[in-house]
Amino acid sequence: MIKDLITRNRSYRRFYQGFSIERETLRELVDLARLSASAANLQPLRYILSCDPQRNALIFPHLAWARYLKGWSGPGDGEEPSAYIVILGDTEVTRSFGCDHGIAAQSILLGATERGLGGCMIGSIKRQKLRRALEIPTRYKILLVLALGKPRETVVIDTASPAGDIQYWRDSKGVHHVPKRPLDDIIIG
Ligand SMILES: Cc1cc2nc3c(=O)[nH]c(=O)nc-3n(C[C@H](O)[C@H](O)[C@H](O)COP(=O)(O)O)c2cc1C
Repeated sequence: MIKDLITRNRSYRRFYQGFSIERETLRELVDLARLSASAANLQPLRYILSCDPQRNALIFPHLAWARYLKGWSGPGDGEEPSAYIVILGDTEVTRSFGCDHGIAAQSILLGATERGLGGCMIGSIKRQKLRRALEIPTRYKILLVLALGKPRETVVIDTASPAGDIQYWRDSKGVHHVPKRPLDDIIIG
């Protein structure tokens, strides 16, 4: 079951924008992050939730999508995410967040997948602009944004070629292909 869930948990970047996600759903997803591992159990992560169109519109312009898809600048009108979870690090707890936010993000996205939702971790963020838009105090470092919604695209996993081309791509039918390196190539000892 965990392999099935992880396989279905792909990065989705096109959504049914009209689909609503309740704030309570986002709270339940953050609760999965709350229960996850944290270095020294410091639990320095904080979260901002957004699920209404007005707040979503403050976040969307400050995110960069799918750098390998040249000529596609991100979700179009009607394809934008229904919700976001902004993951912050509280610098008054620690200045080093290690991989806590990656673990939290994966827990949240697995929970979203289990519910029939999908999303994408976004690390390419215009941080100063997002900080201003959401009025995020400087004590919080902006670590990741999770975009969430009802996926409107098909994403498949391919086996990366021996040459090791790992760039994802979209075929003529709009299916998004994600090459993954073979198991024997990544276990080196
Ligand atoms: C830390 C991190 C940051 C990422 N940042 C972005 C981003 O800024 N924009 C984007 O479109 N995808 C982003 N991604 C998604 C990756 O592109 C995606 O995980 C990769 O293409 C593999 O696809 P998969 O998640 O379906 O396995 C990020 C993923 C991770 C783990």
